Amino acid sequence: MFRGLFLGDDIVETARAKVTAADIFLRKQAREPGAGGRTERRASTNGKAGENGGGRKIAAVTAYDYTFARLVDAAGVDVILVGDSLGMVMMGLPNTVGVGMEAMLHHTLSVSRAGPRALLVADMPFLSYDGGVDRVLTNASRFLQEAGAEAVKLEGGVRVADTIRSLVGANIPVMGHVGLTPQAVHRFGGFKVQGRGRDGEQVFEDALAVAEAGAFSIVLESIPLELGRKITEAVHVPTIGIGAGPHCDGQVLVLQDMLGLYEEFRPKFAKVYAPLGEQVKEAVSRYVDEVAAGEFPTESHSFR
Ligand code: KIV
Repeated sequence: MFRGLFLGDDIVETARAKVTAADIFLRKQAREPGAGGRTERRASTNGKAGENGGGRKIAAVTAYDYTFARLVDAAGVDVILVGDSLGMVMMGLPNTVGVGMEAMLHHTLSVSRAGPRALLVADMPFLSYDGGVDRVLTNASRFLQEAGAEAVKLEGGVRVADTIRSLVGANIPVMGHVGLTPQAVHRFGGFKVQGRGRDGEQVFEDALAVAEAGAFSIVLESIPLELGRKITEAVHVPTIGIGAGPHCDGQVLVLQDMLGLYEEFRPKFAKVYAPLGEQVKEAVSRYVDEVAAGEFPTESHSFR
């Protein structure tokens, strides 16, 4: 993954610097309130956050395969998340509960083969980070050792704080995830906004616990924007919002949502940047028509 040359004591970076979990963590430290609410850059402790866009917010997106990983990396995202949302958008499941370790490893390995400059984070699937420290470490280490991930993400707050501590203690960087945690869909009774009214206190406590436990960043999903702002101001690690308002330190979207490819469900927070679903249908129907009419292939697509 590392693209650099080792020359004596120095590592000479050859291309755009690789984004690491430390860079993402330092991104928040490198931001200071400036005039008019803008943020400005200042030197970070290792200088890397500045080089990697210190003052900017963090742009994360999901990807599940080699082809899209190459494309989103070339577009300059900071973080590629191999989310267990793949259960829905790639496997056609109704939610993420049915996703297992082997599916996550398979897709993470496909993405890592793209050799992304972006930080590669893999979701730990439902129940894979329960059942004792040994089991959790074994499962998490597979993402780094077998599939090329550089960090793992897991859902939950106070309940998983000790688990996060164990992983970070074993040098496995962890991204937290609080608010609407989709693996708890059956407890929530659906994909519902979390943290409204008094419930916000629990989400706030969860975020504090995850930050305190050593996560390098925290996804805030489907919570009121004021709660997103309050958590972002309270924690020392970057918050990555998805349906958590504009005040977070970064954003993440499911790629199929932002490209209009997943038509079954379109959450309010998902902005469609390109209607590729429509374009795919149009292109393939043109192909069907041309084949049916004998217009494709032509001589120019043939060999002599
Ligand atoms: O699985 C996923 O894609 C996620 C994002 C929605 C944050 O967890």
